[in-house]
Amino acid sequence: MRTHTLVPSLLLLGALSLTAACSSGSDGSPDVAGAGGRHGSAATPSPVRSIDPSEIKGLRIVNDSSEQSSCPFATSYPDVPGAEAMTAAMKKDVEKLLTGFRSGRCEGGTDGARPLDLNISHQILVASGDVLGVRLTTQDRNAAGSGLSTKTYWYDGKAGAYRTALGLVAEGSRDAFLSALKDRLKGREGVDAAFLDDTFSDPASRAAVLDDMAFTADGGLRVAFDRGDVGVPAAGAVTVTLPGEEVTPWLSAFGKRAQRQTVTPSPSLDLGATHAPTQAVPTHTASGDDDTDCKKVRCVALTFDDGPAASETATLLTYLAQHKARATFFTLGQNVAAHPDVVRAEARAGNEIGNHSWNHPDLTKLTPEQIAYQLNRTSAAIKAATGKAPTLFRPPYGAVNAQVKAATTLSPVLWDVDTEDWKYPDAGTVAQTVIAKARRNSVVLMHDIHPTSVAAVPQILRTLTARGYHFVTVSHLRATL
Ligand code: NI
Repeated sequence: MRTHTLVPSLLLLGALSLTAACSSGSDGSPDVAGAGGRHGSAATPSPVRSIDPSEIKGLRIVNDSSEQSSCPFATSYPDVPGAEAMTAAMKKDVEKLLTGFRSGRCEGGTDGARPLDLNISHQILVASGDVLGVRLTTQDRNAAGSGLSTKTYWYDGKAGAYRTALGLVAEGSRDAFLSALKDRLKGREGVDAAFLDDTFSDPASRAAVLDDMAFTADGGLRVAFDRGDVGVPAAGAVTVTLPGEEVTPWLSAFGKRAQRQTVTPSPSLDLGATHAPTQAVPTHTASGDDDTDCKKVRCVALTFDDGPAASETATLLTYLAQHKARATFFTLGQNVAAHPDVVRAEARAGNEIGNHSWNHPDLTKLTPEQIAYQLNRTSAAIKAATGKAPTLFRPPYGAVNAQVKAATTLSPVLWDVDTEDWKYPDAGTVAQTVIAKARRNSVVLMHDIHPTSVAAVPQILRTLTARGYHFVTVSHLRATL
């Protein structure tokens, strides 16, 4: 993640080396999945193991997002108990980018043009023993070039300290390590040797450029450079993997442990955190099929996007059960993977589970292959959690076109009442908006990642029930109209 200043000579070089080899998609297409490596035409499987986030005790995914095409953003990063210093580093980076996006291009837009989406997604690389490693992938479609950048964050549970990617390499071995990297890079087309020397000799630019390192399953160290970081932007993102036998002597004590935990993971993660008891997942069960006839009575479909969020969603399920109300949850695949038990509880209580993509990109900006990947991977996670594949999807930002529809068999669901609850984190405002705007057969858009939205639900249920409304799922509403 670096704001790159391009030297003029590189622009010239760029024109000459459009066919430079690189490890990302040859068309420079971004890996919007943000997890599992480069999918699609590049077809290079991730050399880094991916792990099951649902096995991390007390994991919370911190999400923020909007559903509005005038301010399209979605960010996420993991908050693992015990690794607070690393969480703080991710939070700082994410909030800086998001604040810039919202104040500069989103809410304060000067030219009237709608901004393209900002997306920050995460991948947990290692969660084993006393080592935690996470990669954040930022896709800012408003930025110059591909707008794609990646950064890895490391936590050393033994020392109780956050480590940057460069912290994997011992201070005394940095020169040898850098020189080995340079040797590998200088053979690549599109890499500018003089530029590389300058970048690596300045500590600040070195740290900014060498901010994505992770071990491969066989102990090699994979160093990923964002587009334009080590040469001409046309060369795309570049990766160098130094084999284990070469890189191991240069690793720091933490680097060696991170390497060991990647190659031979321990059965569990132990960062020394004292686990606060997590909120129990509710066990409400639906009493058979819903026989509400929306031709005869007033129905409304409440929909909750972007979850599940461990504690907020659990609270919401209790409110719904107290009022015998059903709702539809448009879940994000990356959150389903982290909290499959919560999604199971949603379904068991008679709610409907829909697909809201893996990590909330604007699907209309993706290739058909990427659209299918976003939706299919999420449907698979929902099916794994509940035993049933979804039939509905909600396109992030309501952005849907013929290409998106053609890429899936899922039926799109938009909304007619928008609470804008991401913008107004106030339970009273959210409740009043729904109560004032809901009509017979309305589909109401809310987000269960916000505690304030969940807190608005009891008042919504009480008031609208008193006015004769019944709360049904979207599929039920559609089937009985
Ligand atoms: Ni959303």
